[in-house]
Amino acid sequence: MTKRKALMAGNWKMNMNAVEGCRLAADVAAQCNKGYDDREVLLAPPFTILSEVSHALEGKGILTASQNVCWEENGAFTGEIAPNMVKDAGGSAAIVGHSERRHIFGESNEMINKRVKGGLAGGLMIILCIGETLEEREADRTFTVLEEQVRKGLDGVDTGQMEKIVIAYEPVWAIGTGKTASKEQAQEVHAFLRGLLDRIYEKDVADTTRILYGGSVKPANVNELMAQPDIDGALVGGAALKADSFGSIINFQ
Ligand code: 13P
Repeated sequence: MTKRKALMAGNWKMNMNAVEGCRLAADVAAQCNKGYDDREVLLAPPFTILSEVSHALEGKGILTASQNVCWEENGAFTGEIAPNMVKDAGGSAAIVGHSERRHIFGESNEMINKRVKGGLAGGLMIILCIGETLEEREADRTFTVLEEQVRKGLDGVDTGQMEKIVIAYEPVWAIGTGKTASKEQAQEVHAFLRGLLDRIYEKDVADTTRILYGGSVKPANVNELMAQPDIDGALVGGAALKADSFGSIINFQ
C-alpha cells in the first residue's frame, strides 16, 4: 500500500494581524527542525495576511493556504478571492467547505463543489472539509451525511484530479468544543471515507488520498489519533494559534 505523507495543517480562522501572524509563522517554522520527511506542514492564515505569511515562510518548506476560494477567475464577486489571487499571495492550497462556512454562512454542497472545481482548475490543492452535526450523529445519520458531502463536493472531479484533493473530516460537535472524537470514532469514519473513495473512484485513489481529522486536536491527543491507520494528518484550529502547541502537534510521534 502507498505510504501517505502526513499533512499537519493549521487553520487560523479569523485570527492574527500581520505582525502576530508573521511571528507565529516564524515560530512554527522553528519547530519544524526535526528533519522529518514523512510529513508536511501547512498554515491557513486569513486572506489579509496570506501574502506576508507566505513571504515569511519562503524557503522553509511550509505550505500556505487560503481559507476559502471562489470558482471564478475575476469579476464582480464582492468578498471572494480567486484561485490566482491565492497563488499570487504565495498560497498553493485552499480550504473549502469548512463547517463554519456551511453552518454560519450557509454554503451548500453545490456551492462547495463549485469552489472545489474552481480551485482545482486554478492549480490549487483543495482541502475539502466535511462533518456531521451532533444532531445528525445522534440520529445515526453520520455516514449518510458524510457520503452526501463527499459525493456532492467531488461531483465532476475526475480520478486524475484526486491527487490534489485532501479530505478533512471535522465532526461539527468537536470543533472548538474541546470535545474530540475518540480515536475509535475517528478511525471508523476515516475507514468509511476511504471505502467510499474506493467505491466512487478506484482503489489507488482510496489508498493515496489523505484524510485529515479536525476537531479539538491538541498535543495531548495527536499521537493516538495519528496512530490510527486511516488518519493521515490533522486540521487544527485553536491549538494552531500557539507555536508551542502546534509545534507539539507537528512533531507527533
Ligand atoms: P479546533 O481545533 O479549534 O477544534 O478547530 C478545528 C477546525 O475547525 C479546524 O479547521
